[in-house]
Amino acid sequence: MAQQKLRLLYVGLLSVGALCLYFSMAPYKEEPFVFKKTYGTFLQLPDIDCRQDPPFLVLLVTSSHMQASARTAIRKTWGREWTVSGRQVRTFFLLGTTGNQEQTNAVAQESYEHGDIIQKNFKDVYFNLTLKTMMGLEWVHHFCPQAAFVMKTDSDMFVNVHYLTELLLKKNRTTRFFTGFLKLNEYPIRRKFNKWFVSKYEYPWDKYPPFCSGTGYVFSSDVASQVYDVSESVPFIKLEDVFVGLCLAKLRIRPEELHSQQTFFPEGLRFSTCRFKKIVACHFVTPKELLTYWHVLETSQEDCPEV
Ligand SMILES: *[C@@H]1O[C@H](CO)[C@@H](O)[C@H](O)[C@H]1NC(C)=O
Ligand SMILES: *[C@@H]1O[C@H](CO)[C@@H](O)[C@H](O)[C@H]1NC(C)=O
Repeated sequence: MAQQKLRLLYVGLLSVGALCLYFSMAPYKEEPFVFKKTYGTFLQLPDIDCRQDPPFLVLLVTSSHMQASARTAIRKTWGREWTVSGRQVRTFFLLGTTGNQEQTNAVAQESYEHGDIIQKNFKDVYFNLTLKTMMGLEWVHHFCPQAAFVMKTDSDMFVNVHYLTELLLKKNRTTRFFTGFLKLNEYPIRRKFNKWFVSKYEYPWDKYPPFCSGTGYVFSSDVASQVYDVSESVPFIKLEDVFVGLCLAKLRIRPEELHSQQTFFPEGLRFSTCRFKKIVACHFVTPKELLTYWHVLETSQEDCPEV
């Protein structure tokens, strides 16, 4: 009798052990996602002929179907068509697809009206940002290699197009240039319930390569083609800025500072006229704040100290 109980206990322990092993291994069983350059087909293309009229700077803004008001605010402010010192600046929005027919129609209508939407057929969810970014780079590679520079940024950003243009001209770099808010010593987050959790299966190494915060980075347009070219041979990771960093590492392109002063603010920055005249990008700006800041900047007569 006692022996039988012991045997039962053994069997029980063994089963628990096997289950534990099974669940600890489970994440390793998912199929690896292999990125394909030609993933999806273009559904919307923006209204521009880069061969005829090459822009100096193209701003690619990751956006979603729900962010129509952010796009409206951006079109009225930094995303307007600009000519800065005789150089053309254009802004386009990057979108995927949703199952919602109403939203799908609204985006098609918006694209028809504004001609500023780049869209491919992949599911528009946060963790498809890498696909969205790569779509932007693919678009530059195929349709607009004539642009001098490209900026990839988000919908909740303030971008100072004039200052950025000024700094790019001053920097006088034309190829293999990549800049933004530098992240040179970042480590994968291994805590399971963190939004940015990355499993050892997805990324087995202990450190990320140098990259720039995805809130806003700028590069010479040749980098778009080069990153696009190596993208299939780099391990896929859902964090788009890290993925681009992996591509850059493979290309031996090192992210650099744009200016001696800090100009990219991924953690946000309190608004002041003089401050915002001398920055390139600031995160956490609502559409309403953006419109207000813009109005203040455009109408201000304030003399700002030279920095
Ligand atoms: C990303 O998009 C693809 C293609 O639509 C889809 O199969 C995949 O499930 C999406 N990823 C996530 C995390 O939902
Ligand atoms: C920019 O760099 C080129 C060479 O790379 C040089 O010939 C030119 O003078 C530079 N222009 C300015 C404004 O510094």
